[in-house]
Amino acid sequence: MVLVFSIVYTLGIILGLCPYALTVSLPTTRSCKLLPEDHGWPATEDWETLNQTVGGSLIATVPLATVYHGTNFDQDECLKVQQGWPFADAHVAEPAEFLAPYFQNQSCDPFTPRNKPCELGNYAHYSINATEVRHIQEGIRFSHDKNIRLTIKSSGHDLLGKSTGKGSLSIWTHNFKTIEFIDQYYGSPNYTGSAVRLGPGVLTADATAAASARGLRVVTGTCPSVSIAGGYTSGGGHGVFTSQYGMAADNVLEWEVVTPKGEHLVATPQSHQDLYWALSGGGPGTFAVVVSMVTRTYKDGIMEGATLSFDTRSTGGIEQFWNAVTAFQSSLGPVVDAGTVLNYVLTPTSLNSYGLAIADGNESKMNKVIQPVMAAIREVGVSLNVTKTTHNSYMDFFNHYFLDAVTQTPSAQITGGRIVPRHLMERQSTADKVTQALRQATESGFNTICGAVNANKPRLYLNAVLPLWRSALLHCIFVKSWDFTVPRNDMVDYQKRLTNQIMPKVEAATPGGGSYLNEANFEQPGWQHAFYGSNYPRLRKIKQELDPLGVLFAQTAVGSEMWTEDADGRLCRI
Ligand SMILES: Cc1cc2nc3c(=O)[nH]c(=O)nc-3n(C[C@H](O)[C@H](O)[C@H](O)COP(=O)(O)OP(=O)(O)OC[C@H]3O[C@@H](n4cnc5c(N)ncnc54)[C@H](O)[C@@H]3O)c2cc1C
Ligand SMILES: *[C@@H]1O[C@H](CO)[C@@H](O)[C@H](O)[C@H]1NC(C)=O
Ligand SMILES: *[C@@H]1O[C@H](CO)[C@@H](O)[C@H](O)[C@H]1NC(C)=O
Ligand SMILES: *[C@@H]1O[C@H](CO)[C@@H](O)[C@H](O)[C@H]1NC(C)=O
Ligand SMILES: *[C@@H]1O[C@H](CO)[C@@H](O)[C@H](O)[C@H]1NC(C)=O
Ligand SMILES: *[C@@H]1O[C@H](CO)[C@@H](O)[C@H](O)[C@H]1NC(C)=O
Ligand SMILES: *[C@@H]1O[C@H](CO)[C@@H](O)[C@H](O)[C@H]1NC(C)=O
Repeated sequence: MVLVFSIVYTLGIILGLCPYALTVSLPTTRSCKLLPEDHGWPATEDWETLNQTVGGSLIATVPLATVYHGTNFDQDECLKVQQGWPFADAHVAEPAEFLAPYFQNQSCDPFTPRNKPCELGNYAHYSINATEVRHIQEGIRFSHDKNIRLTIKSSGHDLLGKSTGKGSLSIWTHNFKTIEFIDQYYGSPNYTGSAVRLGPGVLTADATAAASARGLRVVTGTCPSVSIAGGYTSGGGHGVFTSQYGMAADNVLEWEVVTPKGEHLVATPQSHQDLYWALSGGGPGTFAVVVSMVTRTYKDGIMEGATLSFDTRSTGGIEQFWNAVTAFQSSLGPVVDAGTVLNYVLTPTSLNSYGLAIADGNESKMNKVIQPVMAAIREVGVSLNVTKTTHNSYMDFFNHYFLDAVTQTPSAQITGGRIVPRHLMERQSTADKVTQALRQATESGFNTICGAVNANKPRLYLNAVLPLWRSALLHCIFVKSWDFTVPRNDMVDYQKRLTNQIMPKVEAATPGGGSYLNEANFEQPGWQHAFYGSNYPRLRKIKQELDPLGVLFAQTAVGSEMWTEDADGRLCRI
């Protein structure tokens, strides 16, 4: 047993007092969390005291785009900020920056007029640059005692505005950079292989490189700068290994956390089982602050990769193109059953499948695996353009297909998502309807990006991953890149169109479907069922037990229906 971290100690013990044992009902004056303009907002001295208790790691937010406004103007700096703005890299290592443009709300960006004052808006007011458990505990205590909204940020990738909040104190976990390999894990009765402990500051590319150097693989997504132990794994986590090793959450052996009551503990399938279950797929940002997680590693080996594509030139016309899309999508069952994940991007005139992966497979295996796709496409009279590559490690494969491609694609975007049940793709009539729905999305100015998976792999332990993943064939997202050079309202119109027109049609064509909580529309109606399915009631109960005072809130996270923002953006109990 790895016992070192299993010692549970409460904030009360550390501080010699017991603020969290009092489960008093909140007085009415506390029904809203405070904003800086409110009476009762902590005085400067209070923040200074907090700063002392967190070893001087408190940061007052200065937005990145400050250089573009007022007397702070700096022409060279501002051009740099402007160019980098739509890309994740600009925001990942900054304390309070986040990617979601809808929530940035132009309060301080490099595209608005220079004389527009730079305001904090939805940015956190202060961040704790946490590097010790104690920093997190002090942040939780302060936010509770002073009635301040609390947020958590690792990389800031979140597409639903969950890693930020107006007037909040943010716990910034980017500097928990532990990467600790464990040759043989002894903490679990069901697993005794190799594993790795990752802090939430470890980005996908870093973990991939470190594992590769040891001849190992870690389950990750395709974006190099997403935090594995931050939002990715807790939300479920898909990637090129989903059809081989399952969802990222299926591979977690332990979560080291600070709970909303300030307890530092380790949740495993044997100890604090409910918390382990909830954190493994039930969504980040609401059950606890993750300090590290231990996840399985796998032996590395060769990877075969491929790209497949066709477009309206090869099909001869638009209708034929969409017929070919149906044929393509309907042929993917055996492909994912062979252990592959096949991602593809649909535009109004093309289908491009990129980075199709076969773990431990060579070119002849690839030829065999994609045979059903080749046959289905041939049958509708279209020829598929195929290229193949062989790599001697996962990192090689990852770097070839994803490192630059994803980093150099703007990821400031409007996003909707839908998980499509497999049985719908097995009948011509229902498969046609799915294609028509994807077509209307792409013809409305959104790119459709789908991944075909078989996530129904044997699992060590039960967890809160949306059950629909197990019976799904496709996970599709609908993406509109944010154009910062047009009036904001034009982009907000796209957001409205997504919610009111595009997604309802996609939903109508995919009965029994749902959405991946990490890649979805923040305005999803009935998000409880769409994101969490039949797990919701249990997740809600666990949230209530862990966080009765409502310390942690994130939009569309479990329990968030208890709160609403008022006209000024104040977070209030309903
Ligand atoms: C370009 C891009 C590519 C993506 N590719 C994939 C992919 O291939 N597969 C996939 O499954 N998903 C993918 N995603 C979605 C991604 O998994 C989520 O955005 C995820 O939530 C990011 O986690 P983060 O911690 O890096 O980001 P953050 O924005 O920092 O955090 C996301 C959420 O996690 C919470 N959180 C962060 N750190 C902690 C912590 N230490 N403890 C508790 N809660 C925390 C935050 O409060 C927030 O709710 C992608 C997103 C983008 C923008
Ligand atoms: C916190 O203290 C450090 C070190 O004394 C200081 O550099 C920093 O500016 C302080 N933060 C705030 C918000 O005052
Ligand atoms: C954006 O800011 C305006 C005022 O500055 C505010 O009324 C609006 O609610 C904000 N929108 C979001 C999404 O935060
Ligand atoms: C955060 O803390 C780390 C470790 O102490 C330090 O290296 C880094 O400069 C700090 N970052 C900021 C923005 O204060
Ligand atoms: C490909 O792998 C298979 C086993 O999976 C093996 O039988 C075959 O010889 C390999 N082919 C090449 C060209 O390496
Ligand atoms: C085939 O695909 C490759 C790789 O994506 C691309 O470079 C090439 O231009 C494509 N050829 C045709 C005929 O579309
Ligand atoms: C370990 O696996 C067995 C079945 O393989 C399962 O019954 C048991 O519940 C698992 N243990 C835990 C703690 O989940």
